[in-house]
Amino acid sequence: MKFFIDTADVGEIRELAATGLVDGVTTNPSLVAKTGRKFIDVLKEICALVPGPVSAEVAATDFETMLEEGRKLAAVAKNIAVKVPLTPAGLKACRALAQGGTKVNVTLCFSAAQAILAAKAGAAFVSPFVGRLDDVGSDGMSLIADIVQIYDTYPDFKTEVLVASIRHPIHVIEAAKMGAHVATLPPAVLRQMFNHPLTDKGLAQFLADWAKTGQSIL
Ligand code: G3P
Repeated sequence: MKFFIDTADVGEIRELAATGLVDGVTTNPSLVAKTGRKFIDVLKEICALVPGPVSAEVAATDFETMLEEGRKLAAVAKNIAVKVPLTPAGLKACRALAQGGTKVNVTLCFSAAQAILAAKAGAAFVSPFVGRLDDVGSDGMSLIADIVQIYDTYPDFKTEVLVASIRHPIHVIEAAKMGAHVATLPPAVLRQMFNHPLTDKGLAQFLADWAKTGQSIL
């Protein structure tokens, strides 16, 4: 399972990339707005920090402008994946960009029917938003199960399931059990995944007992 980080904060990405656990990054217009910085500058810095795909979202809603924006974003670095919304124009742009060799992440996916369309449009990734479905009383993770099952049924679908809008580590565990290819994690969720009180307690005990031996390994 690949881990992407869901942020446009270069400082956070630098720190988390140093763990060696980060395969890529996803951004969206809201995350870029939070930085208060120029989108292209931020993208260049992020692309130099992580080897894997860095999702950069178009802002247009019509096909021609999306395509133009997508080409400009793809030219920023080799590891850019252009993100387009799951609309008819977005899927048309997805098809055109994918045919030109650009990886496309189709975002704002909220149904299995939409995920089928994204795969047929040649998306490299589809991003179902689990947290936002949970927020409105739907079951976000059952959508992931449906998409994984559908994609597994058709080996000619090459689209990877990128679980987005993750709120907590249980979303990640469930996604992993279902065989989703990628989870994009808010930095706080990745940090949470390290924690367990018994790890802290056990380590404190080991260190205390080790100190009693009076030894040093080095
Ligand atoms: O990047 C897309 C997605 O992960 C957004 O998450 O928390 O705004 O629902 P959220």
